[in-house]
Amino acid sequence: MARLETDARIAVIGAGTMGAGIAQVAALAGHEVLLHDARGGAAAEAAERIRGQLAGLAAKGRLDSGLAQAAGARVSIADSLEALAPAALTIEAIVEQLEAKQALFRRLETILASDSLLASNTSSIPITAIGAALAHPGRLAGMHFFNPAPRMQLVEIVSGLDTDAATAATLHDTAAAWGKTPVHTRSTPGFIVNRVARPYYAEGLRLLLEQAGDPATLDHILRASGGFRMGPFELMDLIGHDVNFAVTCSVWNAFYQDPRFQPSLVQQELVDAGRLGRKTGQGFHDYRPQAQGPTPRLEAVRAAPADITLHGDSPAAQALADRLQARGITHRRAAAAPDQRIAGIGRAALYLTDGRTATRRAADNGQADTVLLDLALDFAQASCVAIAAARQAGADAIADAVGLLQAAGHEVARIGDVPGMLVMRTVAMLANEAADAVNQGVCTAQAVDQAMRLGVNYPLGPLEWADRLGAASIGTVLNHVAAAYGEDRYRLSPLIQHAIHSARPIHD
Ligand code: NAI
Repeated sequence: MARLETDARIAVIGAGTMGAGIAQVAALAGHEVLLHDARGGAAAEAAERIRGQLAGLAAKGRLDSGLAQAAGARVSIADSLEALAPAALTIEAIVEQLEAKQALFRRLETILASDSLLASNTSSIPITAIGAALAHPGRLAGMHFFNPAPRMQLVEIVSGLDTDAATAATLHDTAAAWGKTPVHTRSTPGFIVNRVARPYYAEGLRLLLEQAGDPATLDHILRASGGFRMGPFELMDLIGHDVNFAVTCSVWNAFYQDPRFQPSLVQQELVDAGRLGRKTGQGFHDYRPQAQGPTPRLEAVRAAPADITLHGDSPAAQALADRLQARGITHRRAAAAPDQRIAGIGRAALYLTDGRTATRRAADNGQADTVLLDLALDFAQASCVAIAAARQAGADAIADAVGLLQAAGHEVARIGDVPGMLVMRTVAMLANEAADAVNQGVCTAQAVDQAMRLGVNYPLGPLEWADRLGAASIGTVLNHVAAAYGEDRYRLSPLIQHAIHSARPIHD
């Protein structure tokens, strides 16, 4: 282990939201922490907040009260940068401006011992660019904590072009010793999480733009069917549209306006209106005192259809069979069908989306009464499933498909007939972005999965998810979506192509 021992002193500069949280983490891990802020009184206020937080944890029984008191006592205030001289590691969490960070680290180089380490908590500024101002950039790395730092498990350890491997290794092992899960990443735009998470917002926004559903329904599908902790619209409302839109624009511009990261007109309009989300009372949803909570639109209850045949043993077909059986609904089982339908219900056919619209698939199969099922994290558990129907499908056939899924105990949400639907398209794009990050040497496949599970609470890492579905399925979905839109945005990552052509998993 290359970690700093607990007798090493840690300096934290910038005693705002992140700095205070980081100081709390380091103090709890046993270090003496020196807290400094340019605004007079800010560091002392933060130290009080930290002691309050620790006392609160002790009062709830989540922390031994002796440990809480001792940790609080280890946080002291540094009135000047000179007072930080004994620190073995200095973590900066000041304003997000390149010039301010460069100026601060340049001054620190004149104060700190030459072997002490420097870390920036920046969420978007290249570590390489900060390091360019330093005489010895080898000892600088990013240490990107997530908010709230005491609770969030992930820390991205970011190496710039000049960062020494030993610096990154020490910061990695130190974060691990502090009880965090560190992952190594290179200093590329958005690092891991802020890059790979973009499609979660972008595809939701795109579906909204194309009127596939309203925010409440789309959120509900991603939660109740996709297994995500929050839907994209409620999550953007929580983050704040000014912040989320700025991150999207920053990543998009940093990638020379790659269409994969293109900001959305829908979100731009919210920003223009000052509807920044929870903090202003309105965003996609309404948070004002008199507002009703968001209500998803679900299909009205239909009768269970009489004539049900389930085809093959795909996870969706198997889960449907189990759920129907558990509810005593009569159905037949049959071999896998040549057109890959999951179920035949009277005249209607139900298929798992493969990226084509229902309308296109109906035409390709010569099967007008086509209904598509969106992906679910686990069809056996999903409380809700989403469907889309072909334009040429009859109302009775659609009602039969809805009736089948309801008979299996699912809520059913019908969305517009968009290529790849919602959960499938979102998961495919998350996997594609994760694969591209790995393909470009930003991080390993394990790191990207860990980062997305811990940094943004995804139910599965995007590459784990892709391997579960099979890289070939992701490829089919994205190729169909790309063909439908004729857009470069949906191009397939070379790593997914390798997995397909080698018939081996992405996590090989
Ligand atoms: P904040 O605004 O809560 O705190 C910043 C603090 O730095 C303030 O107390 C301010 O007085 C102080 N400060 C500003 N310039 C200074 C200087 N030159 N020297 C010393 N102190 C100075 O900001 P927050 O949210 O804590 O963010 C800090 C850093 O962490 C930024 O780089 C931000 O991008 C990054 N970050 C923020 C996250 C968040 O969710 N808020 C998450 C991860 C990273």
